[in-house]
Amino acid sequence: MEKRQELYRGKAKSVYETDDPDHYIMLYRDDTSAFDGKIIKQLERKGRTNNHFNFFIMKKLEEAGIPVHVEEMISDRECVVKKLKMVPVECVVRNVTAGSICKRLGVKEGLELEHPTFEFFLKNDELHDPMVNDSHILAFGWGTQEQIDTMRSMSFKINGILKELFDKANLILVDYKLEFGLYKGEIMLGDEFSPDGCRLWDKDTKKKLDKDRFRQGLGEVIEGYEEVARRIGCPL
Ligand code: TMP
Ligand code: ASP
Repeated sequence: MEKRQELYRGKAKSVYETDDPDHYIMLYRDDTSAFDGKIIKQLERKGRTNNHFNFFIMKKLEEAGIPVHVEEMISDRECVVKKLKMVPVECVVRNVTAGSICKRLGVKEGLELEHPTFEFFLKNDELHDPMVNDSHILAFGWGTQEQIDTMRSMSFKINGILKELFDKANLILVDYKLEFGLYKGEIMLGDEFSPDGCRLWDKDTKKKLDKDRFRQGLGEVIEGYEEVARRIGCPL
């Protein structure tokens, strides 16, 4: 497959067109962003770590019946993905309270939720990703009711698969963000799943092993990601 021009440059990844009209090449850079791009730093090994991590998780999800965009890893930092038309919302599932829900609802960090929550956020850095609901998605034509229902049910199905996978590695899957897109009319999981877009804590010590290490200036950010990869058996 021939890599052609850069089509889109996000905060941490770049998307390239290819000679194949149905596929892109996704490049994982070392750029690490927080607070909607307010802070951006280069972290050594990050692109490689997230590419391997994402590939490993996406393949596990695919084996469990989730349609995913990732097809093949072609280098340490690149993979071939299906060309999706992205739904411009982020789907967040929470098992334990942390981050924005604590501020929004005035609850402390670390409360185990009786039932996982599901929230939509509009993907818009300038507006700081405001929370939206089904009716906004319908009103602005970002998706249909069927697509909304599919994104919600797939997000919960993914929760069951990944909670178990991380639990076996003595990790708590606190929360995570997913992005979906359409491929030939079908909703499919896109973007990435890596410690950049989820929270993972050690079960015993509650040590943070995800991007909160970067957001909170805790240090050893990539070392945290590598620790998670090692525990779940993901080759780096
Ligand atoms: P939040 O607590 O900031 O709402 O984030 C919940 C989870 O979703 C957390 O693991 C980080 C992830 N997330 C992103 O990776 N990018 C985003 O833009 C948002 C809103 C959340
Ligand atoms: N992913 C968002 C950003 O890069 C939000 C965050 O992680 O804090 O700015």
